[in-house]
Amino acid sequence: MSGNYRKLLKEEAKAFDKQIKKRIKIGFVPDLRKNKFLKNFYNNIWREKKFVKIHWGQIINQIINLSKKNGKNVLEIGCGSGFLCLELARNKLDVTGIDVSSKSIKSAKEYKNKLNEKLNLNYIAMDANDVVKIKKRYSSIIFFRSLHHFKDYKKIINLSYKILEKNGQLIIFEPFRKNFSIEAATYSFLIRNLVDNFSGKKNKKKFSIRSIDKEVNSIYYEYKYETKSKKKKQSPFDNSIDDISKVKKALKKFKKVKVTPLDTISDKILGGLRGKRRHEIATLIKLFDSYLNKINILKATNYIIVAKKN
Ligand SMILES: C[S@@+](CC[C@H](N)C(=O)[O-])C[C@H]1O[C@@H](n2cnc3c(N)ncnc32)[C@H](O)[C@@H]1O
Repeated sequence: MSGNYRKLLKEEAKAFDKQIKKRIKIGFVPDLRKNKFLKNFYNNIWREKKFVKIHWGQIINQIINLSKKNGKNVLEIGCGSGFLCLELARNKLDVTGIDVSSKSIKSAKEYKNKLNEKLNLNYIAMDANDVVKIKKRYSSIIFFRSLHHFKDYKKIINLSYKILEKNGQLIIFEPFRKNFSIEAATYSFLIRNLVDNFSGKKNKKKFSIRSIDKEVNSIYYEYKYETKSKKKKQSPFDNSIDDISKVKKALKKFKKVKVTPLDTISDKILGGLRGKRRHEIATLIKLFDSYLNKINILKATNYIIVAKKN
């Protein structure tokens, strides 16, 4: 690995060290069964357990069921706070979670140790590009919103292939931001403002064509490039891969690949919902989002890909 790669990887890790530190400070609990209401998360689904359930509940259950059906040894690459590893381990799987952010791994370990639960769960702080050093084979390898943080997605996919058992599978749940369109931003704007302005928040906004244009564009850039202006990224390797067709190509070695488009705009809306009926509204938005995808009005950004080795 080049010196420049090492330097940027350090920065990548630092960005997530900082994120987990900040999250823990405001009360974040990396546990889908115990996470608390977090008033300091303004637009993030982790604000409420129910938002996480509405947005990710089905996909998490699917990942757990697929993993259980395929064997025992599971590796999550880029596990962050460890909430998914924990759920997999609670389902009697033998789980290893790796992440380059040592603070994320430290907090995942600390949280696990606090629990009075018998789990086969192991966390390692490391660059996943060195994963062969673990010298273990896995029945399932999972990327949960982490593949787009790898500088070389082809390399990490090939490494994953290598360390999968004979009948192993790769499960990738990722946002592909290239598919986020100005139409998607416009839908997001309208839904968000209808709900915000007329049912939830107290401070009412005044609109003009100019202000609508400004907000739609801000939603567009923020989602597509993870930044409001095109210039700055959340971390050095963020959004390194945003094109699903490239990932499909990189999976050519696998015998069977199933790609399922999921949704587009829910990421930008659910966590920001307020008001008494926010959960019902979130459920409808999530369904409507899937529908817009089903009838090809919007292209999905979130996908689940399951690639079988044999
Ligand atoms: C967007 S976060 C997702 C974390 C977690 N899966 C979740 O959904 O909360 C991406 C994660 O990938 C990790 N990551 C980035 N590059 C990595 C690498 N080379 N090796 C291991 N982990 C890496 C980051 O530290 C970060 O925790």
